[in-house]
Formats: sequence, structure tokens, C-alpha cells
Amino acid sequence: MPPKTKTAFFCQNCGVESPKWVGKCPSCGEWNTFVEEVIVKTNNKQTVGSNGQTPNKPQKISDIETSEEKRYDTQNNELNRVLGGGLVPGSMVLIGGEPGIGKSTLALQIALNLKNHTTLYISGEESAQQIKLRGNRLNSDNDRCLIVSETSMENIFSHIKNTKPDILVIDSIQTLGTQVVESAPGSVSQIRECTAQLLRFAKESSVPVLLIGHITKDGNLAGPKILEHIVDTVLQFEGDQNHMYRILRATKNRFGSTSEMGIYEMRSNGLREVSNPSELLLSSNEESLSGVAISASMEGMRPFLIEVQALVSTAAYGTPQRSSTGFDLRRLNMLLAVLEKRAGFRIGTKDVFLNIAGGIKVNDPAIDLAVIIAVLSSSMDISLPKEVCFAGEIGLSSEIRPVNRIDQRISEAEKLGFKHIFIPKNNSKGLDTSKFKIKIHFVSKVGQVFQTLFKQ
Ligand code: TYD
Ligand code: MG
Repeated sequence: MPPKTKTAFFCQNCGVESPKWVGKCPSCGEWNTFVEEVIVKTNNKQTVGSNGQTPNKPQKISDIETSEEKRYDTQNNELNRVLGGGLVPGSMVLIGGEPGIGKSTLALQIALNLKNHTTLYISGEESAQQIKLRGNRLNSDNDRCLIVSETSMENIFSHIKNTKPDILVIDSIQTLGTQVVESAPGSVSQIRECTAQLLRFAKESSVPVLLIGHITKDGNLAGPKILEHIVDTVLQFEGDQNHMYRILRATKNRFGSTSEMGIYEMRSNGLREVSNPSELLLSSNEESLSGVAISASMEGMRPFLIEVQALVSTAAYGTPQRSSTGFDLRRLNMLLAVLEKRAGFRIGTKDVFLNIAGGIKVNDPAIDLAVIIAVLSSSMDISLPKEVCFAGEIGLSSEIRPVNRIDQRISEAEKLGFKHIFIPKNNSKGLDTSKFKIKIHFVSKVGQVFQTLFKQ
């Protein structure tokens, strides 16, 4: 019997299906996102247990056998770290990012670096010649990296059959289409069906699949949310077009932590791994300037020192402006309110601009103390000694709260030649200070740091 075709409406944002058009999505609340798509319903009625597969038997968790998980080393330490130690066989990794951020470059670089594995790189966006030109820029060659420009799923599976790749790269999922679904590539039903087919392939063959995905103008991955549910790992590739740094973050990872990040620098010959971020994130100004404070931060398991810059000036107009790059504006407002109310600094009528060096967004709360000190330093126009750094979270009553992994922060600061570090008093428990040469100042209130630094 020929399959019965019918149409339905799908929310392009979250993938919810509706039999009729609706203006506002009942599931995600977005407006005007419903688009009519043709769907094919195959009428194979299935009852439980009759799908031809032998059902799995439930077993005790202690009885389940695990083999030592083997991972592919991508020859790219930053990516390995973000993935949680390498690419897991049979896993599906989605890399999302704005156009031009370097997703295709990253994927091609990985494919070219994997010298001992056959990689099939499928591009629906560029011709093979264009990819070759990019390969030339990367100065790298690998005969086991096969390139094909293709958008049809049926053809892709025949290429897979012919080339038997160890790793599959799809650039991008939004350009693929399968005959099973009649709607255009990039539509919800196409993305859903193509991803499902690729997932089935990945799980059956244990070939890892790297998917590249577009993002919408609000920074979400384009296509249905279910895309993010299906894949094992979602990586976001972000960065400022005007800065050369690129950050790779995991926002979901079934095989590792999501707090790790990888840092790259976009060069004329591709992405370079930045293995020691502190050196890049600290400016090499010889003279010390007011409004600059260094924070001993952590991202995931990796400590690094980062420069916080603040500019405080008298508001030219009635309402003071607050602006921040790389730091949550609401958190900045909260910190300014704490300074005003609890520590008695008058900055309510001042403009405050805050910038984290390198255009990097830091999620670590321990950066609070450096933010406050940078603001105070700029406000009083007193520069800090160059060899001082800070780590501490600020609470609403201006208390300095303990932070995690204090040992690593102190060691990193010491390694980079800092002479003084201000850390929360509550972190002193169990900390062996004798092993450090750096002078450790334990502080519990913002006022105390202020007294030490500015009132000598
Ligand atoms: P691309 O990987 O095409 O981005 P995406 O796939 O995310 O859209 O990279 C695009 C940008 O990177 C482009 O503006 C040029 C720049 N680039 C370099 O600076 N150096 C290089 O070696 C390469 C290959 C690209
Ligand atoms: Mg691309």
C-alpha cells in the first residue's frame, strides 16, 4: 500500500506538531513559528514486542558488563578536553555556532589530523574545490580524509557503504534532505528524520558522527529542540568576530563534564590551540593602570588568570550607564549595589563600564572580587600593584564567600609570577599555606581588601 501523505504544522523553534496553524506556539511560546510541512505516515501498526527485534532483558545494574571505553584521540587537546577525553565511538556530537565562526575549519582540521582513520567529510554547503582551498590554507594533507559535496541522505548512505569511514562529518545538518520526507531541507521534519537516520547509523556501526548545526539570530541552535535531545554531546563554538579567540564549550555531554572549555585562536592558517590561556588573557602593559584587576579564575578543571577592566566616570546625563562585556550585567548591578549600600562607596551617580579581556565570557563566580576591586581602582584612580590577583565570590552583605579549587588557583597565580593573592577567609580551612611562596591574604569583607590596597 502506498504511504498516505498528509500535512501538519510544525513549530520551527521547538518542533511541536499541530494539525492546524497557530500563531503562538503552545509549547515554547514563540510567535509565527508554525510552517506547514508534508509528512509521510507509513501505516505499519506496531504492537509492543512485535517489531521484529528481540527485546532486551532487564538486568541488575551490577550485572551489566562494561568494556573499557575506547575513545578516538582527535589530536586536538582542547577538543579532547571538552569532549571529556576524546571522541566516543558511536556518539553523535553537534557543533553549533554563528556563521563564520570557524565550525567548518574546526571540523576539517580534525578530519585532516586524524591520520590513522578514514574520515568522510560531507559538505552540503561548499563544493569539494572550496574545501580543498580551505585545506590548502590549513597546510595539512591527509589521504584518508575523503571529501564529498552532497545533500541527499540516500546518496550519503551509499558513500558510507563504499568508503567505510571511521568517522563521519556532516556540514551541516540543515542542508540535508531525505526522500522519505517531502518538505524542504532545513525544515523541522527533514532535520528530525535525517538526524534519526544518522543516529541509527552511528549506534549500529559505532562510527562517531560530527554534526555541524546553524544557530538562529538569538543564539539558539536552529531546528527543533529535539535535535539537542537526540545527540549525545552539544558543543557551542563562540567568540567575537572581531577578536581572534574562539571558545568551544559543551552545553550537554553524556560522556563528560559540561564545565570544560577549549580555547582557540583563529590564525591565517587555521585554528591554533591555546593551551596556556593566562598568557593571552593578561595584557602585557608595563605600566600599571587604574581600573585593572586580575582574577584567578577556573573554567572546568583548568585555572587561568584573566584581566578585568573597569572604567568609572561621572555620569554625563541624569541616568548613569552600566555596561559590561563578558560579565553578566545584572551581576554587575548587584555588585555595585553591594558597594553602595554595604561598603559605603558612592558610585550610584557614576557610569560604570566593565570589560573582561579577550572577549571571553567567564561563568566563574570567583571573579566577583576582581570586578569590585577594578571598579574601586578606577573610581579612585589608584592603580594596583602589578603582582596582585584576586579570587572570591561576593555575597549580598559584602562578605567574601569561599570558592572552589583554591589550591589550583593559588598555584596558577604563583606559576605566573604573582606575589600576592587575596582569597576568602573561609577557604583557609585545610589549606596548606606553607607550600606556596606567594603571599596569601585571607579576607572576609570587601572593606578589608580596600583598607589593605588603597589606604596604606
Ligand atoms: P568557517 O570555518 O567557514 O566558518 P563556519 O563554518 O562556522 O561558517 O570559517 C570562516 C572564517 O574563518 C572566515 O571568515 C575566514 C576565517 N579563516 C581564517 O581566519 N583562517 C583560516 O585558516 C581559515 C580556514 C578561515
Ligand atoms: Mg561552514
